[in-house]
Amino acid sequence: MKVETLPEEIKREIERLVEELNYHCYRYYVLDSPVISDEEYDRLYRRLKELEEKYNYVLPHSPTQRVGAPPLDKFEKVRHKIPMLSLDNAFNYEEVREFDERTKRFLGTDAEIEYTVEPKYDGLAIELTYRNGMLYKASTRGDGYEGEDVTQNIKTIKSVPLKIAADVAVPEEIDIRGEVYMNVEDFEELNKSREAAGESLFANPRNAAAGSVRQLDPSVTASRKLHLACYGVGAYRGIEFSSQWEFIQWLKKARFPVPAYLKLCKGINEVLEAIEEISEKKSEFPFETDGVVIKVNSFELQSRLGVKTREPRWAIAYKFPAHQGTTVIKEVIPSVGRTGIITPVAIFEPVRIGGVIVSRSTLHNWDEIKRKDIRIGDTVVVERAGEVIPHVVMVVKDKRTGKEKIPEIPERCPVCGSKVVRPEGEVAVRCIGLDCPAQVKERLKHFASRNAMDIEGLGDKNIELLYKEGLIKSFVDIYRLKKEDLLRLPRFAEKSAQNLIDAIQRSKNTTLSRFLFALGILFVGEYTAKLLARHFRSIEDLYHVSEDRLLDIPQIGEKIARSVAIFFNDKKNLETLEELKRMGLKISNPDYREEKAEQPLKGLTFVITGTLPKPRKEVEEMIEALGGHAASSVSSKTDYLIVGDSPGSKLRKAEALGVKTITYDEFLKMVGEA
Ligand code: IVH
Repeated sequence: MKVETLPEEIKREIERLVEELNYHCYRYYVLDSPVISDEEYDRLYRRLKELEEKYNYVLPHSPTQRVGAPPLDKFEKVRHKIPMLSLDNAFNYEEVREFDERTKRFLGTDAEIEYTVEPKYDGLAIELTYRNGMLYKASTRGDGYEGEDVTQNIKTIKSVPLKIAADVAVPEEIDIRGEVYMNVEDFEELNKSREAAGESLFANPRNAAAGSVRQLDPSVTASRKLHLACYGVGAYRGIEFSSQWEFIQWLKKARFPVPAYLKLCKGINEVLEAIEEISEKKSEFPFETDGVVIKVNSFELQSRLGVKTREPRWAIAYKFPAHQGTTVIKEVIPSVGRTGIITPVAIFEPVRIGGVIVSRSTLHNWDEIKRKDIRIGDTVVVERAGEVIPHVVMVVKDKRTGKEKIPEIPERCPVCGSKVVRPEGEVAVRCIGLDCPAQVKERLKHFASRNAMDIEGLGDKNIELLYKEGLIKSFVDIYRLKKEDLLRLPRFAEKSAQNLIDAIQRSKNTTLSRFLFALGILFVGEYTAKLLARHFRSIEDLYHVSEDRLLDIPQIGEKIARSVAIFFNDKKNLETLEELKRMGLKISNPDYREEKAEQPLKGLTFVITGTLPKPRKEVEEMIEALGGHAASSVSSKTDYLIVGDSPGSKLRKAEALGVKTITYDEFLKMVGEA
């Protein structure tokens, strides 16, 4: 058996590719100014991956090491060497001036103090520990003293360097602090797809970022668009910094992402000018910022100032006047969505906030109501930040009279009267009425929407109308609509009726991924629909599909598998699909990837022991791809043990159990690869 040895030039090529790819990653994700095309990047990445696998030589800071870590059972605790503190707030310029005066008084000086000014990021604070330049650990802030080890998740964030760039002084060890955050646009996109899949929504970008980092499965974190801004240093050894400014300059050279705005100011007047400047710029930032952080620049002065209980004396956060108002909750009404999720919606005494009248806002779910202790009749603070939908920030408890009522989870659906259920472990409350008009209408709206069947002209208003008139109650009814039906309605004239009929006709030619998304199967958003289309040739191949078959697709978990299997094993659903086909629906599937039809290893279980010429994972994947099963330990159910160099105890066990043993070459012959 021949083990591929590592020629010097291959080693150098791998090392060069890692450096090169990391540099391009930095250009793209940190500087936002790539110098090569995505295709070129992918090509280099594929080349690296190929070499790494072939020669089994993987550098710890290789870009391939960002993904693929297995899910955890729980997070390990991490103690911060220096506590991660919070910040005192200033709500107006006067309070910022008072901070400056306090600082001078404490230091016993009249001289102007140097401050740095940066935006305040609203995300999740984390600490990155680098040892000899390599990312060693990433942890959340937790209670400030002890956080959670989220290293595998943080590694998936492309702007986080896995290794400190060699063209700066590299400390023996350093704890770098920053904020993981999500841009507003990506947050809205994420919520949109969660809504489409019937999942609960994140209340704001901060919750979305925090929820994405505190994930046991790193592949979920990897799928979220997260960013990092580094703004602070904890413990360090083997390097010297004399100020915040100097530290940030070092971060920049070391290719870390730093705050989008940073200014060194002499005296408090310059600080206030910088705050003004950020206030003007902030709408151009892609992320949400609710304030500005002002820090004494000199580290020497910082340590003289020290900390109060939870906050340093050397920094303060100036908070922008929020777009907030107070109003009274008149009632809380349950609103039913397409997947039956019932959402509590607060109806307010109308109030003007930032130039817009706000009269309602979602309260997300009943857990959130409980957490914020929101009651009907309460006076609440409502916020409308940017384009984000208004939300209740908090209850003004001083205004309580005792007459306020706790909103109750409805026992029956407010629209159809069916029983309401709350699946264990879920915050969502659902109506299980199959023909619930609210669900039916929402399902129809989803079916016709742009990314689904894309029926132009069949928007929310027309669906409400056609449903009310009894013309459409199901997907099939849409294709039964006739021009005459429409012409009888006041909203339609000859031309508009014809346009709608034409659009419906056009939608009959669709793709499997669109169609699957349009069906509105619980937990099947656009991404999952594409995934299914990639693995199933046609809609018929999904009929009666089993949960196990779906679980064979690596990205599909139990929740989705169960939901899809239930859908495609339901007789009524299958009848609907057949009826749609009879109405002329044509479903093409450009996403389908032909897999090797041959399954020479079908039904056979393999175990590997010792070193093979190829990485074990690759051989296991090959076994699975050819229909076999790769197990990790030998038992009486094992058909073959593949024996490599220096085999372990598995060989003895196999011999004892009478399991057949083969060499790697024999295995290759078996699958026709030799
Ligand atoms: S300095 C003790 N700088 O705000 C110094 N913090 O309310 C605290 N934050 O826990 C860190 N942007 O999560 C600093 N530019 C910035 C920040 C920032 C956001 C967060 C951080 C901190 C919280 C305090």
